[in-house]
Amino acid sequence: MTRLELYRNCVKTMKKDSIDNAEFDTMCIFQDVFKEKNPLFKPNEKVSDSQIYKVYNNVEYRCEGNPLQYVLGEWDFWKYTFRVGEGVLIPRPETETLIENILDIVKKNRLESPKILDLCSGSGCIAITLEKEIPHSEVWAVEKFDSAFEYLEENIRLNNSMVNAVKADVLSAETSEKFRDFDIIVSNPPYLTAEEMKNLQKEVQAEPKTALFGGDDGLDFYRKITFIWKKSVKKNGWIAYEFGDGQHDSVKKILESNNFYNIKFSCDTQNIIRTVTAQKQEEI
Ligand SMILES: C[S@@+](CC[C@H](N)C(=O)[O-])C[C@H]1O[C@@H](n2cnc3c(N)ncnc32)[C@H](O)[C@@H]1O
Repeated sequence: MTRLELYRNCVKTMKKDSIDNAEFDTMCIFQDVFKEKNPLFKPNEKVSDSQIYKVYNNVEYRCEGNPLQYVLGEWDFWKYTFRVGEGVLIPRPETETLIENILDIVKKNRLESPKILDLCSGSGCIAITLEKEIPHSEVWAVEKFDSAFEYLEENIRLNNSMVNAVKADVLSAETSEKFRDFDIIVSNPPYLTAEEMKNLQKEVQAEPKTALFGGDDGLDFYRKITFIWKKSVKKNGWIAYEFGDGQHDSVKKILESNNFYNIKFSCDTQNIIRTVTAQKQEEI
């Protein structure tokens, strides 16, 4: 069989299983298996049995409804590559808005060696990117679940990062007592509502529920994190959150009622209000 024949078979199989971007997904699998940027530049090249086996295995896994990112086992975020698979949330492009917000804060306020804490760290995409991008920063990452924590540790290693990873529950006040004097606390916590959880796209259903569900109205983590962790932020230090479409007013109220000021929102590339940054007024 040639590469082109194999490619056509795979696209056909994926389309039969209603995979939306069958051509794109097949090409990504080909790039991964053949380790070439443009595998179809050699359309008539014969494929080996082991290549056919690998390609079909990946196509089958994709057709079972698993996200392409899990099939490939890694995904890019900002300038870095992160290992992903079952048990960890795939880094999303909208989360890069949080990175932009924090780099902006660090630059504008000339923070020399900021102490930054990433709560609900998952793959570590936020913590690791910030640690790599901000010279002399000290970055900590907290994640509760074993499966995600393993990816966090692996991604720290793979990216030669100095992030300090801690396995702990961010909803515990006891955990927060061990972390004090941070310049910035950042979090992209689970924020889907009970209603949204009922209508998840098939690929998203393959991601851990513990990374998605934020309580009935999706706001449990904002209420609890803001209240529990405000003592860990320095006076005039920052908190930065990502949240879901339409949650900005509620998150603003939560921040105001916990004495945060200078509340600023940013939109993601789809023009959805996606992140907030705010400063802590005084010792609370
Ligand atoms: C929306 S994901 C974000 C992951 C990553 N920060 C990102 O932006 O891609 C939320 C993460 O919070 C973790 N998590 C959920 N409940 C937690 C808790 N009580 N304590 C610590 N981490 C928790 C989940 O395992 C998941 O990795």
